[in-house]
Amino acid sequence: MYELLQKLHSWWAYLALIVLFIAVVNALIGYASKKSFESKDLRISLFALIFTHVQLLLGLAVFFVSQKGFKAFEIEGAMKNPELRLTMLEHPLINIIAIILITIGWSTHKKAALDAKFKKILFFYGIGLVLILSRLPWKSWLA
Ligand code: HEM
Repeated sequence: MYELLQKLHSWWAYLALIVLFIAVVNALIGYASKKSFESKDLRISLFALIFTHVQLLLGLAVFFVSQKGFKAFEIEGAMKNPELRLTMLEHPLINIIAIILITIGWSTHKKAALDAKFKKILFFYGIGLVLILSRLPWKSWLA
């Protein structure tokens, strides 16, 4: 079970990050060129929301079965180990905050005036992406 969830979380990360990146770049282009927000833009933003939420669910599942997640809190001195602290605390916490921001971006863009929609997506999804990238276990992922 652990191996399957860990692999799914590891593979889905590529999709989630690519779709989120596309949504941020699309919002940047739309905002900078003062384009009107169309159904294509809505779909790209929605895909990024869905893909990151699936990743959140996979992450929560992995967190409770992995030795490097919740169980690591039982290990003495675990917080002093930077790699362990990353997977047991920093990565989950920062990513949850990032996905909350992305969700806020999605819901506020819906209520925003047409000319302010790209700005909302750009701001919240952009910060979300930066936060996610700042706390990824790069070493174990790309090893
Ligand atoms: C968009 C959000 C997220 C992305 C892109 C992401 C991505 C990743 C990546 C690339 C890895 C390394 C996988 C590997 O070593 O092969 C990883 C590991 C891990 N992630 Fe996430 N993650 C996200 C959200 C979360 C959340 C919200 C949680 C928990 C609540 C979480 C818990 C974990 C844990 C515990 C590990 C270590 C698993 C292990 O190696 O045993 N992740 N994540």
